[in-house]
Amino acid sequence: METAEIRRRWLTFFEARGHTVVPSAPLPFNDPNLLFVAAGMVPFAKYFAGQETPPWKRATSVQKCVRTPDLEEVGKTSRHGTFFQMNGNFSFGDYFKHEAIQFAWQLLTTPQPEGGYGLDPDKLWATVYDDDDEAASLWLELTDIPRERVVRRGKADNYWHMGIPGPGGPCSEIFIDRGSEYGRDGGPAVDEDRFMEIWNLVFMQYQLSAVRSKVDFDVAGPLPAQNVDTGMGLERVASVLQGVDNLYEIDEVFPVLDAAAEMAGKHYGAVPSHVAAQSHPDDVRLRVVADHVRTSLMLIGDGVTPGNEGRGYVLRRMLRRAVRAMRLLGVDEPTLPHLLPVSMERMSQSYPQLRTDFGRISQVAYAEEEAFRRTLASGTTRLDTAVAGVKSSGGSRLSGDEAFALHDTYGFPIDLTLEMAAEQGVQVDEPGFRTLMSEQRARAKADARAKRHAHDDTLVYRAVADRIGHEVEFTGYDQVTTEATVRGLIRDGEAVDRAAAGEEVEVVLDRTPLYAESGGQQPDHGRIRLANGTLLEVSNVQRPITGLVVHHATVLEGEVAVGETAEAEVDVVRRRSISRAHTATHMVHQALRDELGPTATQAGSENSPGRLRFDFKALQAVSSAAMGEVEARINAVLLDDLPVTADVMGIDDARKLGAMALFGEKYGDRVRVVSIGEWSREFCIGTHTPRVGQIGVVKLLGESSIGSGVRRVEALVGTDAYTHLAREAVLVNQLTATLGVPRDQLPDRVAGLLARLKDAEKQIAAVKAAQVLGAASGLVSSARDLGGVTFVSHDAGENVGADDLRALVLDVRGRLGNDRPVLVSMASVSGGRPLVIVATNGRAREAGLKAGAFVRSAAKKLGGGGGGKDDIAQGGGTDASQVPAALGAVEDELRSRTA
Ligand code: ALA
Repeated sequence: METAEIRRRWLTFFEARGHTVVPSAPLPFNDPNLLFVAAGMVPFAKYFAGQETPPWKRATSVQKCVRTPDLEEVGKTSRHGTFFQMNGNFSFGDYFKHEAIQFAWQLLTTPQPEGGYGLDPDKLWATVYDDDDEAASLWLELTDIPRERVVRRGKADNYWHMGIPGPGGPCSEIFIDRGSEYGRDGGPAVDEDRFMEIWNLVFMQYQLSAVRSKVDFDVAGPLPAQNVDTGMGLERVASVLQGVDNLYEIDEVFPVLDAAAEMAGKHYGAVPSHVAAQSHPDDVRLRVVADHVRTSLMLIGDGVTPGNEGRGYVLRRMLRRAVRAMRLLGVDEPTLPHLLPVSMERMSQSYPQLRTDFGRISQVAYAEEEAFRRTLASGTTRLDTAVAGVKSSGGSRLSGDEAFALHDTYGFPIDLTLEMAAEQGVQVDEPGFRTLMSEQRARAKADARAKRHAHDDTLVYRAVADRIGHEVEFTGYDQVTTEATVRGLIRDGEAVDRAAAGEEVEVVLDRTPLYAESGGQQPDHGRIRLANGTLLEVSNVQRPITGLVVHHATVLEGEVAVGETAEAEVDVVRRRSISRAHTATHMVHQALRDELGPTATQAGSENSPGRLRFDFKALQAVSSAAMGEVEARINAVLLDDLPVTADVMGIDDARKLGAMALFGEKYGDRVRVVSIGEWSREFCIGTHTPRVGQIGVVKLLGESSIGSGVRRVEALVGTDAYTHLAREAVLVNQLTATLGVPRDQLPDRVAGLLARLKDAEKQIAAVKAAQVLGAASGLVSSARDLGGVTFVSHDAGENVGADDLRALVLDVRGRLGNDRPVLVSMASVSGGRPLVIVATNGRAREAGLKAGAFVRSAAKKLGGGGGGKDDIAQGGGTDASQVPAALGAVEDELRSRTA
């Protein structure tokens, strides 16, 4: 029976029994405690917990689930996949154990022609929680199951909760016996591979407060009602009904595995997994691919994009693991373009939007594969070198430093380093790596903190905020000076009553025109003046806790005390410059969306005086032509001199107007919307220039990647843009003068010069090679006899590459003929690194003189290694000063062998 049919029968069965069919919730569920929906009941948890009244008494669903406790285990056992579907029937204070057991038995054992799954009742087992006599007797009463197949088990197996505080309760599970070829007799307590769990009936009746582990939790009390939550593993039942070994082989998964095997030219399942003690590594890899490709498809389908944290990181790991597994199977070309469509074909039978949305989904997946291929290409060499280094020094552990460097420079996540090192039989100093990571994080944090406030004790701020009793009012949208009262002073993290000249202090006013850093807009500078002549210089304004604004100030003259009246004044020149940058940021955002489409959403920004930085989502580099269009568009709008207005309105009205909100930001009911004419509308609390014409000029400084899927553009505005352009003009003038051509011929002239330079370099190299080879006849006459071996030893000096040196060595060896044993040994330095090449002729080899052995002794002196064939071998190292010693080592070796 196809998976889609099992699913259809499920919904029909429960719908006929009064259950409302509820569609699956998206995988990234709206709960910060959960990475993904991991059970069918998650969308219903609020009803069980009594936080909301359920709209139905009975419901049923087939819920998409993702569980990722241990990705390393995927594919090794047959029971766990990362994506699976959980069929559930739910009762909210309606039916309880009796019907739950009856429904389950009926659906499982009703013959297939009559709409059930037709499982053999003699193969079914049930478990109940230790003291659940009621459930145990219901099984005997309502079904044909014999007493010995109803087993009692403890908390670890028969108590269910979400792993976080919430509803929970004892459960009763149904198992199917897959036959003696899968394991030992004795029921689920003895062998859960042979006796496979297919359906869990949870009698949800308690609220759990602290959940420390599966078996260790506190029960806060009974739930408002007795409920039922069940979960039947759709994939597991499919594997049973399709007579296949495991979930990777069912109709929704196997085609991907098959396509992967074909690409790799492998034969999957030469030995069935339940027969072999351990699966063949290639089979495990194929299963990893099939599983991860499907899970990635479903996650991207539900809006997850690869990233470095949280959900995005799980997705990234899975995509990358799939690509790596294909690599280990010997496939080097891009794999997802072959595999993802196969998965989509299967899964879209139940989830048709996967097909309609496949353009976007595949773009995200393919871009991630491309990015990963680049990472792999650069990092793998480094990792291999490091691993070889560890091995050659007799070790078995890669240092934390090395793992950290791979992470920091090549973007190799630690999991990847661990995996790839393990494949070569080397461990990684993971604690060392973690220490370095946390040191780096601490440094970053310390930097951020030093920048924001000298101390981080929010208690002192909270006390001041409580005393004021209202949010500090921002008057700076339309005032640059404001009368206010000093409501708090904080020095070195402590509240003080007064501060004197020369002291640095954080000043809290009840209202202020100075803008506190937020939303990427840099803080205002300004002054605070008291009636008695006291003057403070403000160099930073922050919002350490919600509703409170502190001015970081230095008392220049006089003394300030809490309670005094003050006048706060904005540094208008700085503010205007920042406001111009902020308005320009909105323009960059809008112009990028006009050019690239609505997916180019903001991912971060910074508005400083005369300068802005804007980060946005884009899967690939934006062409310079497109950037040119964006810049032209912005400057055209500047000439239109559109007005910039701000309105506070209800959030729904704002959305209706099409105002762009920042993804992931929380907004209240009322929001401020900043509009540039009718062209751009954004939720924004920042300050802006009244008309765009006042910005003057916007000059984009190019764009670059700052991490996967996020690009950064920087720009100068106003005077800063003008100054930049003026400087570039000076530069061009200098170039035209130096090169003696008009400005529009500069590119051609430079290209011509570069071409000539390249030619000249080639010629020099040819001359050099000829010189090196020209040395051959001289070297032949310098040959010496060492114990019957004709021996040439030569230091070819600096800037002689391996190819030239090798040619010289072979030339000299050839000229010395094969009448007597010959050994030629030469060294040079190329690119600062020493290298040595040794060659022997046939007679020498007959006498047991092998080039490789000589090279190894030489390379040891150079601090490196080497090898090759018996007739010619090459080595290298790091210490160029040891070239004479290396040549000496060859000579010593020869002496000792011929003595
Ligand atoms: N919520 C139960 C489970 O996930 C049915 O096993």
